[in-house]
Amino acid sequence: MTATFEAMALAAPLKQVLNELEYITPSPVQAQAIPLLLEGRDLLGCAQTGTGKTASFALPVLHELHTNPKRIGTKQCRCLVLAPTRELAIQVGKSFNTYGQKIRFSQTLIYGGVGQNPQVSAMRRGVDVLVACPGRLLDLIDQGYVDLSGVEFLVLDEVDRMLDMGFLRDVKKILALVPKKKQSLFFSATLAPSIVSLAQTILHNPARVTITPEVTTAERIEQKLCFVDRGNKMYLLQELLEKQSQAKEAKLTIVFGRTKHGSNKIAKALTEAGYEAEAIHGNKSQAQRERALAKFKRGEIPVLVATDVAARGVDVKDVGLVVNYDLPNEPEAYVHRIGRTGRAGAAGLAVSFCAEDEIDFLRDIEKVIKQPIPRDTAQQWHSEALVEKHRSGFKPPKIKQGSGGGGRGRQGGGGGGGGRRQGGGGNSSSQGGGSRTSGAARRRSGSGGGGRSRYSA
Ligand SMILES: Nc1ncnc2c1ncn2[C@@H]1O[C@H](COP(=O)(O)OP(=O)(O)OP(=O)(O)O)[C@@H](O)[C@H]1O
Ligand SMILES: [Mg+2]
Repeated sequence: MTATFEAMALAAPLKQVLNELEYITPSPVQAQAIPLLLEGRDLLGCAQTGTGKTASFALPVLHELHTNPKRIGTKQCRCLVLAPTRELAIQVGKSFNTYGQKIRFSQTLIYGGVGQNPQVSAMRRGVDVLVACPGRLLDLIDQGYVDLSGVEFLVLDEVDRMLDMGFLRDVKKILALVPKKKQSLFFSATLAPSIVSLAQTILHNPARVTITPEVTTAERIEQKLCFVDRGNKMYLLQELLEKQSQAKEAKLTIVFGRTKHGSNKIAKALTEAGYEAEAIHGNKSQAQRERALAKFKRGEIPVLVATDVAARGVDVKDVGLVVNYDLPNEPEAYVHRIGRTGRAGAAGLAVSFCAEDEIDFLRDIEKVIKQPIPRDTAQQWHSEALVEKHRSGFKPPKIKQGSGGGGRGRQGGGGGGGGRRQGGGGNSSSQGGGSRTSGAARRRSGSGGGGRSRYSA
């Protein structure tokens, strides 16, 4: 294993940038994956959230673009990166720009929810790196604006998501259009055995890199599980936010709801209680989504309420707290959601609420993470009755699948690809007063308690 980036066979301008970014030690996945990828191997890489998988695929690609520059055919790209959400595509594009700032290469993004013309004209001359969400990419291919026959590197970030039901059809169509001879780089923090087998049918003699396979959740994240009746969730959330507002660092909080509507309600209730919060989900316009995320990243709004559209890959440094207001019905999403904190070796706290109808979700999650989530029985809304129900094998009635970002479907997942269905962008509830006040979260005294059931989202 290579202990420093300096000792790796990476091009000098890449090393210079890493030095400037103060990346001294490669993370375990970087140390193992980068040398294999530089040898030209296909790779299936699994490592915990926030451990630098992006650089693990971006650096070897950029190295090759630098050491082996080529003319690119019209409408073509040399490297195609597929990502499940627009936010992640944008972020991965930024990472390529950051790591590749001292080399000459071109790149563009293709994703739905925005006009296609700039994307079409960017592709006219061809680019080195194309980062795309599958739906819009296929649209542009169908219209004859993109040609994948020149792809040398295929990256599937969040590969298990890209190969699950929601995306598989689109990804298969894309796979049929890229050359057989190429290097494939697949990464995720979660890899169910079924996905591993599927990935192996696509990869050519792949190297496997799996860091700490027995622990899927990032080690630096402290996890807590609160058994709480649905009607008390908002009170418990506000208590957590109150504490978090006094944090000296890592002040930001992401609250995950199951549905778009539910997330709007949470954001609205928080705003009414004096917290600055905005919601981000697949029914928001792309401009609203980007604006909310940008403000959150800058610390201008301390609380982001999100569906699973923000569960994977999103890298915001100062997130100290993740709250699963609703448990995800897809157990892997738990790993990704809590992984929005505790990034790059930082510490973080993830608190999950479990109401009666979520007891089964909790069982599924604990199966996937192979450990019980430590219970917080000291919180004042703790329900011993729920503990008993969980212990006794109680089966709650199935929760109706909402229209939230949690679903596996492509569009349900936040419109990552398509943009074929534009949600009613003017969802008003989360645009409220949140952005008008500045500073850390605060509580308007006495305004939080308007009837318990009102807050159940
Ligand atoms: N070697 C390194 N030294 C210091 N910081 C690093 C290093 N590699 C990556 N980082 C930083 O770590 C953070 C997480 O990286 P990244 O987003 O690539 O994680 P990830 O493994 O893809 O996580 P996820 O599973 O959530 O997508 C980023 O802010 C990145 O800048
Ligand atoms: Mg990532």
